[in-house]
Amino acid sequence: MQEETMDRLIDAATEASRNSYSPYSSFPVGAAVLTESGRIYSGTNIENASYGASVCAERVAIFKAVSEGDMNITALAVYTNAANLAFPCGLCLQVMSEFCGDIPVILASDTLVRIYQFSELLPHRFGDTE
Ligand code: THU
Repeated sequence: MQEETMDRLIDAATEASRNSYSPYSSFPVGAAVLTESGRIYSGTNIENASYGASVCAERVAIFKAVSEGDMNITALAVYTNAANLAFPCGLCLQVMSEFCGDIPVILASDTLVRIYQFSELLPHRFGDTE
């Protein structure tokens, strides 16, 4: 993946995190996905007083892309301003597995960037057969 594209994805994720609605965890997260069409969709975490109704940044970004009919995701970035990088949660990995191949997953903070392949984070998913 080109460095310029990666920077754009991280910037979009960072920008989205500014809209985080996270009064319960105080843990803002931003995510952005790149699709085959070249478009970028971003999302942030949106929490709820009924905690289970909260949704992660990654799923918001993915669902925005899919609901625009743009469902072939080719890269995903997650941004937090925390000291440590945040890995996507198990629910988000399962949702990603529906719309992503073995894509690069970029984890970013203000000081660190690490790139994983999706298959490192979720080698097997529900829905696969042995
Ligand atoms: N969260 C995300 O948005 N993405 C992740 O990868 C991990 C966790 C959110 C959910 C919740 O709003 C807050 O971070 C604390 O768990």
